[in-house]
Amino acid sequence: MIIGILGGTGSEGSGLAFRWALKGHDVIVGSRSAERGQVAAAELNRLLAGRGMVRGAGNQEAARAAPVVVLTVPYAAQTAAAEEVRNLLPGKILVDVTAPLVPPRIECVQLPNGESAVVALQRRLGSGVRVVSAFQNVSARHLKDPDYEIDCDVLVCSDDNAAREMVVGLARDAGLRAWHAGPLANSVAVEALTSVLIAINKGYKVSASGIRITGVPDADKK
Ligand SMILES: NC(=O)c1ccc[n+]([C@@H]2O[C@H](COP(=O)([O-])OP(=O)(O)OC[C@H]3O[C@@H](n4cnc5c(N)ncnc54)[C@H](OP(=O)(O)O)[C@@H]3O)[C@@H](O)[C@H]2O)c1
Repeated sequence: MIIGILGGTGSEGSGLAFRWALKGHDVIVGSRSAERGQVAAAELNRLLAGRGMVRGAGNQEAARAAPVVVLTVPYAAQTAAAEEVRNLLPGKILVDVTAPLVPPRIECVQLPNGESAVVALQRRLGSGVRVVSAFQNVSARHLKDPDYEIDCDVLVCSDDNAAREMVVGLARDAGLRAWHAGPLANSVAVEALTSVLIAINKGYKVSASGIRITGVPDADKK
């Protein structure tokens, strides 16, 4: 799978890039600056040490080359970053990782107009883009440690069942337990949970609290 990550130079995007490259995916680390993308890719290739390869590019090039585009930029940049590549997105899967955090009180749920940020993005981009919401609850902290078993499930929401299935598979490829969590509207709960986890991190002085879904038979967990 060719995966283009917009804002892939940041901690969350580069962590996902690392894990997907380890699994053999062809990952493009996108940036507003192609040069920054290449520098980040070189650093990831050093960490990968031959176990996978990534390449760096501008966000436009990453979106053009990949059928699956992943958005990992701060909430304040979500709309602008997607708008910049919107003509390249129709027919593609756009995985939005954005948690709508509003500094400085990022431990406090502050949903835009009380709704999901990714639902607002889907409305803006139109139904021609296969928008999927995922990974908002997974801290970047341990993503670049391939042996670390990340103690957080991934809730995947989309109105496009096939796209959601694809992203559940990508989460599993990243070594994470993932769930079909219903339509895109359900992402509102997932996005809000990120602030809850940040509050827990602060309160308990940890860096990567997570969530687990229970009560599903083992056979269905994978
Ligand atoms: N960090 C985590 O643990 C974590 C966990 C779960 C979810 N998330 C979510 O994942 C997203 C990315 O988080 P992050 O911590 O990786 O963020 P980040 O490091 O602050 O930023 C990621 C990248 O976004 C690009 N960017 C920054 N400002 C931008 C702007 N104004 N316009 C366009 N691009 C801009 C930058 O890339 P270039 O300068 O190279 O373009 C930057 O490297 C956020 O929405 C966050 O809520 C993060």
